[in-house]
Amino acid sequence: MSQTDETEIKIKGLCVTFPDKDGVEDIQALKDVNLDIKEGEFVSLLGPSGCGKTTLLRSIADLQEINSGIISVKGRTPKEIRKSQKYGIVFQSPVLYD
Ligand SMILES: Nc1ncnc2c1ncn2[C@@H]1O[C@H](COP(=O)(O)OP(=O)(O)OP(=O)(O)O)[C@@H](O)[C@H]1O
Ligand SMILES: [Mg+2]
Repeated sequence: MSQTDETEIKIKGLCVTFPDKDGVEDIQALKDVNLDIKEGEFVSLLGPSGCGKTTLLRSIADLQEINSGIISVKGRTPKEIRKSQKYGIVFQSPVLYD
């Protein structure tokens, strides 16, 4: 697909935290993430292990509850897009039976 100026995925001020299993301090996986992705754009997320790449993808895919911020995909919410079966996702580890 060729790239256009149309913003397809818009993320503003996205924050996701996970409760600390020891109950000491929550883990802030994403803090104030802002990202605009245009239609047809090829995007790679790079960063050290634990920096939040998977959490960001899961948030866009509506597989992760977010704490605050806005995610818009084609002007709709991730839940609307997921429910209309417009997503495809390949997981990092196998999730099906052998
Ligand atoms: N379900 C969870 N419960 C608690 N903490 C989590 C959970 N998922 C992710 N985290 C924490 O959130 C942070 C971001 O994790 P994430 O898996 O998004 O990183 P990543 O960049 O995808 O790492 P990797 O390169 O190893 O795949 C890490 O500190 C991780 O331990
Ligand atoms: Mg990951």
